[in-house]
Formats: sequence, C-alpha cells, structure tokens
Amino acid sequence: GEQPVLAAASNAAAPAAPQSSRQVTILFGSQTGNCQRLASSLSRKLEEQGFQVTVAAMNAFKTNTLKKIENLLILASTHGEGEPPDNARAFHEFLYSKRAPQLESLRYSVLALGDTSYEFFCQTGKDFDQRLEELGGQRLSPRVDCDLDYDEPVAEWFEQVISALNGPQNVAAIADAAVEAVETADAPASPYSRNHPFHAEVLENLNLNGRGSDRETRHLELSLAGSNLSFEPGDSLGVYPENHPQLVADIIAAMGWNPDESVPLNKKGEEGTLREALLRHYEITVLTKPLLEQAAKLTTAAGLHALLLPEAAAELKAYIHGRDLLDLIVDFAPWEVPARSFVTILRKLPARLYSIASSFNANPDEVHFAVRAVRYESHGRERYGVCSVHCAERVQPGDTLPVYIQSNPNFKLPANPDVPVIMIGPGTGVAPFRSFLEEREEQGAGGKTWLFYGDRHFVTDFLYQTDWQRMLKDGVLSKLDVAFSRDTEEKVYVQHRILEHSKELYAWLKEGAHVYVCGDEKHMAHDVHAALVTVIQEEGGLSPSDAAAYLDNMQQEQRYQRDVY
Ligand code: 2AM
Repeated sequence: GEQPVLAAASNAAAPAAPQSSRQVTILFGSQTGNCQRLASSLSRKLEEQGFQVTVAAMNAFKTNTLKKIENLLILASTHGEGEPPDNARAFHEFLYSKRAPQLESLRYSVLALGDTSYEFFCQTGKDFDQRLEELGGQRLSPRVDCDLDYDEPVAEWFEQVISALNGPQNVAAIADAAVEAVETADAPASPYSRNHPFHAEVLENLNLNGRGSDRETRHLELSLAGSNLSFEPGDSLGVYPENHPQLVADIIAAMGWNPDESVPLNKKGEEGTLREALLRHYEITVLTKPLLEQAAKLTTAAGLHALLLPEAAAELKAYIHGRDLLDLIVDFAPWEVPARSFVTILRKLPARLYSIASSFNANPDEVHFAVRAVRYESHGRERYGVCSVHCAERVQPGDTLPVYIQSNPNFKLPANPDVPVIMIGPGTGVAPFRSFLEEREEQGAGGKTWLFYGDRHFVTDFLYQTDWQRMLKDGVLSKLDVAFSRDTEEKVYVQHRILEHSKELYAWLKEGAHVYVCGDEKHMAHDVHAALVTVIQEEGGLSPSDAAAYLDNMQQEQRYQRDVY
C-alpha cells in the first residue's frame, strides 16, 4: 500500500507500477544536434527515476514496433520552409502514409524546436503532434514549441512529461526534475558551454578573398588555451556576436532614451546599461510576429495593430521581411515606454554557428572558422549581418569572442580511416572539409578523398586554395574538382562537375565512399542531391525512384551526411 519509490535508480524498486508503463521511447529528429542532446539528457533524467528508456534517431527506429509502444516522446526541430531534419524525413513520411498503424494505446508528447522568425515555426513538431493524435494517440502533456532561446520551455516540457509519466500521485520526483538544468552533460570535460561561453582570444583574422572580389570571407583563428574545450571534425563553433554600434545608437536616439540608464540584461534580472544590453544581449535585427504583438501594446500607432489582424497575414510577412527594430520604432511611433520595459519584449541575441575549419588534433588548443560578411541594402538602408560584419569589421587579433563548441554527431568522418570520402562544399561550405582533411593527414589515413568546390571567380574567390594544393601534393587530398560560376558565359556549379564525373563517382560509392555536403540548403544542397540521384540512376541502371531510395538508404546508414543551412 506504500507509494512506489519513483526516484530510485532501478525499476525493480517500483513494484506498484506495472512494468510496461515504465517503458519510454524517445525519438529525435535533429539536424545540428540540439534535439539529439536534449533527448539524451531527458533519457538520463527518466532513467534516474527508474524508467526503462530507449532513445533513437527517427531514421534508426523500426517503424513496425511503433504499435507496441505505450509511451513515446518526440523531439523534433524544423528546417527551411517547415521541413523535417534529414534523419526525421522517412519517419515523418511513414506517419503520413497508408502504412501508418492505428495507435489507440499510445501515449505521447512532442517537443518542437524552431525559430519564430520563420513562417513555418515548429512545423515538424506540429505535424508529429497532430498526426499522432489523428492515429489515435493520447497526449501525455501538451506539445511545447520553443524559440531559439529554448532552455526554459524545454525544462517545462521535461517537467510536464516526467510528471505525466509518473502519474498524478508523485510530486517529489517532479520537483527534483525541475531544478536541474536541461542539458546535463555526461561528464563535461570543459566548464564552457552555450550558456557559459569561453572568451577565446583572436589569433588571426584574414580576408580569404582577393582584391577586387565582390565577396569578403574572413578566416578567424581563435585560441582555446585554458578552456579544456575540444572538438571533432564536423562540429560547429557557436559565436556570440555584438550588434552594430551605429544601429544601437540610432535605436536609442529614435526612442529618446539614455544609453547609460540601467536595464535588465536577461530574464535572470542581471542589470547593465541600455547600450550594453542592445549591443550584446538582445536581438535587434530580426522582427518576429510575437515581438510585434508585444510591441503593439506599447504604441497607439494604428498601423501596427492593423498589421496584426488575422486578415493582414500577407502584409505582416512582407513588412517583417528585411526590416529591423529601428524600422519598427520609426514606423510605429509614438512610443510611451521606458527602455527597461521595452527590452523585456526582445529576444535574447542568439549565437551563430559556424562549421569548424580546423582539426583539433592538427592544431591543438585552436579553432578556425570562416565567415562571409553579409552586407546588403533593404528598405533604403544598408544592412549588416550581425556576426559576420562584427567579425569582419570590429574583431582584431588580441580581442576575444565568446564561443562554445556545438558537437554535430550527424556530420562525422567514417570511423575507418581507409573508407573513401567525397566532400561537396561550395563557398564557405568548404570549411568543415579543411577540418576533415587536416584530421586525415594527422591520422596518416589511407582512404581516398575527393573535394568538389565552387565559388564565383577562380582568381579572387578560391577559399583555402593553397591548403588544397598542398594537400593534393602531399596526397591527403586525392582529387579536387572546382566550378567557378562567373568566369564563363554559362554558369558552372559543383553539381555539373559531379555529373561530369558520374562514372568515377559511382565507382567510389560502390567502394563504400561516404558523401558529405555542406553549405546552402535551399538551392545548392537540393540540386546536388538531384545530381547524386542522377549519377546513381544512370551508372547503376536504376529507375529514378530506386536511385532515390539508394541515396535515402545511404543517408540511413550515415554514409550520406549533410550540414546545410
Ligand atoms: P553564383 O553566385 O554565380 O550563382 C558559392 O556561393 C557558389 O555557389 C557560387 O559560385 C554560386 O554561384 C554557387 N551557387 C549558386 N546557386 C547554386 C546552386 N543552386 N547549386 C550549386 N551552386 C550554386
């Protein structure tokens, strides 16, 4: 008649609960690794409470076992125009297909990661949530949709699902779960993380483009000495930028505020000057619908209220596009609001992720990355990419940048150094392949390597040209094919080179080569995918659908990995 001991480490200590209800399956769909990390963290918490947990990437999950599952927790991020991450695509398709079973005995809950500045915010999570309901599942707890700053809502969702799984009677275990941080690392080698970035000294900051190029790509080298941070090829570097000082000054002037007044810097209630808050703590270059809704409460300007009416969705989307906080302030004055209330409606300034361009083993205690300066005109004003222009214009050797390592388990060299690799990375997408090749060089690896690179002009835009040439000479790079799109009348892109070499490329695939694609998602990665399907179709003598299935299968086996954005 005693209450089950739910906080016990072993499920043998929970006799009152039927064995089956203590079993939980966690499935994640993750592109950059956030959902994967959160899934492991949740799994540890549940195991501490005596649950038997199975964690899997959606593409590693056997869908024919779905019907037997009683408790399912889904963590999924959303990409591009509301698309699932690569490792969630097949499962997403399966649930929406005729093969999906009825799931009356399923209890489930969904955590969705996303970004409110995108139109299809958290769409993948919403899809899973809705579809599981249609198939007869019962929600354990409501879906939680997270914006970029996800720590708090994730902690709430953890608390809710753990509480729902434990049943209503157990309160102590719930409280226990809530006080812990969301991301308890297994055994953190370094005290530095996304929430506690390391201030890394800048050692080098070079322009990789030649004189006369219409591009500016900075190569930065940072020191990780003293941080205990390390990383593997394929991982990313999170960099916390500063907003443009001129934009900050213009916003403060437009509002008639005092730059030195004290305002909250974050939800924890730390205080600092308004200038510091807008430079380093809040996002001021992106407008989102939730921000405009909050702002509408602080102005009498009728225009803003009109934009938020349900029938004005298209106007709202058009307004938000390419505008920033200064536009909002100027367009919808007068504002009767003190700075310290206004800043609380802003999103936290998020870190930017860059694919790491160096091998830690080859350059111990250093991390290199490449960033292309984004500058463009929009609505009559010059606009600057926050982090890229900060790195290009305001960061010098000797300065520091707050950084952390974001591991990416979905972009990893084959464990076996003899396995051939094919790397496709136009523009700054080439960065991780510098890391891959440095690592293989350091290992003295025997596997063949083939790099496809493209950019606008050979003379000014051949990023890391001397590195590739040296690696070719030394044999760590076996083949290099380049496509300079603006040196010739007709555009040539990496996928054209892929098609030109279809026979040899297919032979590499047959030898077990892994294929990596890094860079632009919307155009390049899509076209490269289509080119790979064509190669497989033509050289393998397969139908288009069988060729597509061949590539999907490679993806499932982690032989086709993408780091696209
Ligand atoms: P473009 O700017 O001349 O169109 C890196 O940005 C390189 O990628 C550039 O040479 C760019 O060419 C090229 N690029 C643009 N669209 C592409 C696509 N759909 N597929 C592959 N490469 C593309």
